[in-house]
Amino acid sequence: MSEAIRRKSLDELDIITARRYGEEDYPHAEWTRLRQESPVHRFEPEGYAPFWAVTRHADIIEVSKQPELYRSAGRFILVPRPPELAAASGDGLTEDPPLRMLVNMDPPEHRDYRRLVSAWFTPRAIARLESRLHEITTEVFDTWARDGDEVECDLVNDIAAIQPLRMITEILGIPREQEDFVMRVTQENFGIEDPELQRDDESTDGRLGFLTEAFAYLDEITSDRRKNPRDDLSTVLACATLDGEPVPTFELFSLYFLIMVAGHDTTRNAISGGVRALVEHPEEFKKLQTNPGLVATAADEIVRWTTPVNHFSRTATEDTELHGARIQKGDSVGLFYASANRDEDVFDDPFAFRIDRQPNPHLGFGIGEHFCLGASLARMDLRIFFEHFAKRVESIEPTGPLELSHASFVGGPKRMPVRIRIRPH
Ligand code: HEM
Repeated sequence: MSEAIRRKSLDELDIITARRYGEEDYPHAEWTRLRQESPVHRFEPEGYAPFWAVTRHADIIEVSKQPELYRSAGRFILVPRPPELAAASGDGLTEDPPLRMLVNMDPPEHRDYRRLVSAWFTPRAIARLESRLHEITTEVFDTWARDGDEVECDLVNDIAAIQPLRMITEILGIPREQEDFVMRVTQENFGIEDPELQRDDESTDGRLGFLTEAFAYLDEITSDRRKNPRDDLSTVLACATLDGEPVPTFELFSLYFLIMVAGHDTTRNAISGGVRALVEHPEEFKKLQTNPGLVATAADEIVRWTTPVNHFSRTATEDTELHGARIQKGDSVGLFYASANRDEDVFDDPFAFRIDRQPNPHLGFGIGEHFCLGASLARMDLRIFFEHFAKRVESIEPTGPLELSHASFVGGPKRMPVRIRIRPH
């Protein structure tokens, strides 16, 4: 831990600004101090409504398993409050949320909505996509290089982004010509605090303008599927009912949007962060190349190591106590999954990247009521990507600086210039 971090008071630690994540990476040293000295610590950073940071594995489980006491509706992520709310306690997402989707719903409504789509994401349903995913992954590598080639590319946008994007759009039945559109609205959503990725503030609806565009597209595709049903998830969504009634449009499009964006950006970050980890740990890369059977444990270790979904937030519905901290009704409680995934009480040598780590009870997919709907799909995307990567890539080296997203919600590498040598046939 650096001297600068040790000397700061706990209140001064920056674990939340997007700038910090973009310029210096995840605040692991700060979290290590918090886990040791104040595992449930109240922060009041300038520009944000106050929140409690929960940094230990056991405490995050305790919160996640009590959705009645800690609700997801309201402030579900920790972002700066807009200037017009500076004097109030809100964050602009609470009163009139721009989306009502699974991650900001609570039981019993949450369960009803989750049930509309869950059959598409069970391990068995996902397993049926395996051979198609191999074809997609082969195509992604073939587009870049033939056997024996040496190529220079941006690992993030040219390779890592494509496989999960193509898989989720095929599940939804979104045509390939629309992939670039899906990618752009996703980047404007998760990159809302990144000066390079965020949508032009001057445009209609400001930085949230991508939602207007996305909803117009969802209107088109759902109307089409109601007239021309197909065997795809868009048809299931378009024709979904709740208690015999059509699902209200706002909630329907919110759910669709969530699947469309969460279904690939998170995995892209895990893939590019996983490649980064293999470059930084050449002995683990060698281990994977010689033991391709380790790819399943490697996929989970990559999710633990990178934790692309860094945090979610809950709101206390009653006064309560958490690890000695007195939480009051209405307080925000930030669950820092990336910190839990380095918790010394749970993981043996947590700062070691080991592709054969077992057991690996990481919280990279959350836990409880909101456990990631797409976890089986994400695991399969990762497993197949790294199976191909280990088989085909002989060597990989950086050719320029790594750039990280300015994001403390869902983040990871933004650009990663590399030279790759593909194994001769
Ligand atoms: C490595 C990739 C992924 C990671 C790290 C990840 C992580 C997470 C986490 C931490 C949550 C919990 C949210 C909470 O606590 O409130 C979550 C929920 C969710 N994830 Fe993922 N996810 C990934 C991939 C995917 C994919 C491929 C999909 C595709 C459908 C997906 C869809 C969802 C949905 C719909 C939820 C909301 C579930 C609910 O609230 O009931 N995720 N994810």
